[in-house]
Amino acid sequence: MKIALGCDHGGLEHKNAIAEHLKEKGFEVCDFGIYEQKSVDYPEIALKVAKSITSGESELGILVCGTGIGMSLAANKVKGIRAAACSEHFSAKFTRLHNNSNILCLGGRVIGVGTALELVDLFVTTEFEGGRHQTRVDKITAIEQNEN
Ligand code: RB5
Repeated sequence: MKIALGCDHGGLEHKNAIAEHLKEKGFEVCDFGIYEQKSVDYPEIALKVAKSITSGESELGILVCGTGIGMSLAANKVKGIRAAACSEHFSAKFTRLHNNSNILCLGGRVIGVGTALELVDLFVTTEFEGGRHQTRVDKITAIEQNEN
């Protein structure tokens, strides 16, 4: 499975640790930066990771900013993206099971690197349940299509 990664200056340490962790576990990683500590605008990185998923290049994405919230707001503007900002284990698992989220957004100033790696593991190994949840996800998609 190929996973797209990205961060702003609030999430560089976490993103780099996540990249190494995923590679060690055998995942292919597509790292959209940033690669050094400098101030950037998170929507630019969110767009790159989101497009990597909607184009089919990557299956899932991980975005890290200071809170995880700015990245999720930006990524969710791209049609077909379901980005979830999570800071604990239950949400990271259930946003895959029930929402079929395709991007996990983390806050580098909210959680430590160790917790981030645990949430990433849950997110990338949990499959969408489908069934009644597919109906609900379809209704999200319908809103997206009618609003644009
Ligand atoms: C950058 O200072 C910060 O605003 C950003 O990383 C993020 O937390 C936005 O949601």
